[in-house]
Amino acid sequence: MARAHPRLKVLSIFGTRPEAIKMAPLVKALAAEPGIDSHICITGQHQTMLQQVLDMFELKADYTLDVMTPGQTLNTLTAALYAAIDPVLEQVQPDKVLVHGDTTSALVAAMSAFHRRIPVAHIEAGLRTGDIHQPWPEEMNRRNIDLISDHLFTPTEASRRNVLGERLQGKSFVTGNTVIDALQMTAERIDRNRQLRVALDRQFNFLVPGRKVLLVTGHRRENFGEGFLDICKALRTLARRDDVQIVYPVHLNPNVLGPVTEHLGDLPNVHLIKPLDYLSFVRLMQLAHVILTDSGGVQEEAPSLGKPVLVMRDVTERPEAVTAGTVRLVGTDPDTIVRGVCELFDDDALWRRISQAANPYGDGKACSRIVDALMGRPVDEFVVEPPARRPAPTEAQRPAAPLRSVSRLH
Ligand code: UD1
Ligand code: UDP
Repeated sequence: MARAHPRLKVLSIFGTRPEAIKMAPLVKALAAEPGIDSHICITGQHQTMLQQVLDMFELKADYTLDVMTPGQTLNTLTAALYAAIDPVLEQVQPDKVLVHGDTTSALVAAMSAFHRRIPVAHIEAGLRTGDIHQPWPEEMNRRNIDLISDHLFTPTEASRRNVLGERLQGKSFVTGNTVIDALQMTAERIDRNRQLRVALDRQFNFLVPGRKVLLVTGHRRENFGEGFLDICKALRTLARRDDVQIVYPVHLNPNVLGPVTEHLGDLPNVHLIKPLDYLSFVRLMQLAHVILTDSGGVQEEAPSLGKPVLVMRDVTERPEAVTAGTVRLVGTDPDTIVRGVCELFDDDALWRRISQAANPYGDGKACSRIVDALMGRPVDEFVVEPPARRPAPTEAQRPAAPLRSVSRLH
């Protein structure tokens, strides 16, 4: 009798909200692949915001670490991660460690595997701003992870060019971004279930019909201090417009929560709310007219939903949507932010043009490509489709009435 081929033992290690969202469809695909023995280790770099994702995608971790401390510094977090991850590697003895993106969890997990000579596969490899301080510390994290990875899963052709240009040793594949897999799964769930939409919309009962929604998120470390004060200043100005309402799910980092609550908490037209679970956040993106953010993931998701995005950064490692026209960089200068937002609210033709641009980040098949590559099968790489005209908004794009109940911060 022929001996069964040994299964590839894969350990996925992640710990923050965006990693969990982007890894969720992948760990499901890994679990469904007969040739893979998939294990999950959650570092706990985030707690509440991570648990929301695990609950929504019904993910069960094999190992849960507990490294988060309030207002953690990069060095204390890094030290705690090294101490906590190594015993898991010792116990699991994986053939390969999978990490995602550019967080401290991803860097330490990759380095811990490297120290044990375990091959690393990097999901969302090759993103670069070219400035080691922006975003900080993420640009340093991802460059180092790429340096030691043997599989480089680059979301786009441009990110693959980055890793080829650096002559890295790992083998690269253009897969599309797994966030589009996660978004498609979630948006389809919302679009095909009217009752679910009604339930989700009840959370946004504070929205005034007829006023367009400006959705805001922000959390980058390089914007702490002056940057966030400038962002708050811009939002105070924008809140004076009576055709606009601002909804801001506030990140739990005390360096964000503190200034945002202090400077915006008294404005009736600014709705500061707790971080939303992914299902609710996708619904809120569908309801938004314009999105103002410094988030990486939101920059990738919004073009898929046809939403113009203004990015509160000076540089981005995701130039594709800027080229496609869906994303514009506005930095944190209050006047530039206000001008950029007002232009999109006042110029319908501009808004329509932007909302119909192509989505350059994926086609929902990134996870199956990654599984194929890990299994040594041929990979049908991701190619951006030419811009398709977007259909008129469906019923699912409009809020259902009446609306009720929300976890407000004020
Ligand atoms: C981290 C990542 C960043 C990623 C972001 C996504 C690093 C260095 N930074 O930044 O790349 O874009 O996550 O959101 O890896 N907190 C809670 N509850 C939570 C989550 C966070 O209270 O569920 C608070 C804690 O006080 C914690 C602080 O936020 O100490 C900062 O968390 P940390 O993971 O260090 O940094 P982020 O700014 O979230
Ligand atoms: N997100 C969420 N709830 C929120 C705000 C954001 O689920 O209240 C999702 C968002 O759709 C995206 C991810 O979280 O997929 C982005 O996370 P974040 O901005 O914290 O990190 P980044 O992407 O900048 O690393």
